Amino acid sequence: MILPIYIYGQSVLRKPTEEIDKDYEGLKQLIADMYETLRSSEGVGLAAPQVGLPIRIAVIDLDVVSDESPEFKGYFKTLINPYIEESAGETVTYEEGCLSFPGIHEKINRPDRVRVTWYDEDFGFHDEWFEGFPARVVQHELDHLDGKCFIERMSPLRRQMNKSRLNSLAAGKVKCDYKFKAVRK
Ligand code: NI
Repeated sequence: MILPIYIYGQSVLRKPTEEIDKDYEGLKQLIADMYETLRSSEGVGLAAPQVGLPIRIAVIDLDVVSDESPEFKGYFKTLINPYIEESAGETVTYEEGCLSFPGIHEKINRPDRVRVTWYDEDFGFHDEWFEGFPARVVQHELDHLDGKCFIERMSPLRRQMNKSRLNSLAAGKVKCDYKFKAVRK
């Protein structure tokens, strides 16, 4: 089932999330719904707060860009209770967007490599390094799980320049092709 995506202004995007265990009710269905929602909105990552749930889970689908980047064919990651343990490499700048901020794209600085621990959908434990584009996406999604959005990583100037657009989103003036839930409609 395709879930509506919560747009900037919704308080759930600011809430810290809670860890879940394997008995979380409807977990398999939620994961399937998150992948379906992500695919239908043509994004590469989706965190639970973006579908209104303050829990610690995110999904990543890089398979969607595998036409241009064949190395990502079949690249899906279900991250349950994930944490960034350490980062390394250079700080790199890359343009990011977010399904909760339709129409806003900004260059954001992040480290090029991160070590992440998480549980997969069968609750197998993982401890791995991510590098390059996957590291970028993981860091963006894990920010969501800490109640943080990418606008908080923009320079004050760039944030100022996006102010009217942000105010519009928070006021429920949203234009996008996917199902969404804004504060007021
Ligand atoms: Ni996002």
